[in-house]
Amino acid sequence: MRAMKVTVVGSGTMGRGIAQVAAGAAQGGYPTVLQDISREQLDKARAAVAKSLEEGIARGKTTPGQRDLTLANLSLETDLAKAGRDADLVIEAVPESLALKAEVFGILHKACKASTVFASNTSALSITEMGATSGRPAKFIGMHFFNPVHKMKLVELIKGKDTDDATVSLAREVSARMGKETVLVKESPGFVTSRINALIGNEAFRMLEGGVATAEDIDKALKLGLNHPMGPFEMVDLVGLDVRLSILEYLHKTLGETYRPTEIHRRLVREGRLGRKAGRGVYEYPATKEAKS
Ligand SMILES: NC(=O)c1ccc[n+]([C@@H]2O[C@H](COP(=O)([O-])OP(=O)(O)OC[C@H]3O[C@@H](n4cnc5c(N)ncnc54)[C@H](O)[C@@H]3O)[C@@H](O)[C@H]2O)c1
Repeated sequence: MRAMKVTVVGSGTMGRGIAQVAAGAAQGGYPTVLQDISREQLDKARAAVAKSLEEGIARGKTTPGQRDLTLANLSLETDLAKAGRDADLVIEAVPESLALKAEVFGILHKACKASTVFASNTSALSITEMGATSGRPAKFIGMHFFNPVHKMKLVELIKGKDTDDATVSLAREVSARMGKETVLVKESPGFVTSRINALIGNEAFRMLEGGVATAEDIDKALKLGLNHPMGPFEMVDLVGLDVRLSILEYLHKTLGETYRPTEIHRRLVREGRLGRKAGRGVYEYPATKEAKS
């Protein structure tokens, strides 16, 4: 049987990590095409994957053979239709906009085989809605990875109203070969993880706005008092304040007032304080500052 082929669309924070674990998956890895509209982002993504593999070797987590296999399995493409043509599974990781995702899946539906499974790495949007507009609702599923993808153990699988069992089985099998555990969640805004994470993060911004404590002390309280591995502000800086804001706006619309984004959060986004990727968010990261295209 020929090896299953994977295409990852969007080569930002998440897409590059998903492509890395797909290309380096167990049993020889999947031939993986990483697609992006930006050639510059693709080049950065490949460099980031190579760097992450070298770091893995230095820490004794990756072998040189694993690095070579991953890089050999990975190819880059700017043309979406070409990238989707031979794929058996497409995992989409473009920015969190329903309209943008629908446009991407519209092009893919025309370019891909009828049997190709579509997965979205959306943090919160409706899998049923995306599935319905994709043209293949039975073959549409949510595969929600976590940042950084090569380290985080979970893939949250989201079954839309029309997702069939074969699609769920395929997503489970691929996740397992990527070395991930899975949970199966029924269609619901924010699923399990984004809904709880957004709630904690939003409450932390409310406390900051109300002067309850400093950002540092709120983070310290959750880490040392509640045993969270990261504080909510460290977490939002990692996720991206813009990404989190769009999740909150969607949860506010679908689940109600609890999720209304705070003014302080909006202001930080307006000021370009988007988190680690921008070199500054709630905190400053002078050493890691990198221009983001
Ligand atoms: N950042 C996180 O921690 C995180 C975690 C889980 C899920 N997600 C979700 O993953 C998705 C991607 O998030 P991200 O943080 O990687 O975003 P990002 O901004 O880092 O990357 C998005 C990439 O998509 C590319 N892109 C934009 N339009 C495109 C198009 N039409 N076709 C192909 N590529 C296009 C951009 O050039 C960019 O490289 C979002 O839905 C987000 O909600 C993010």
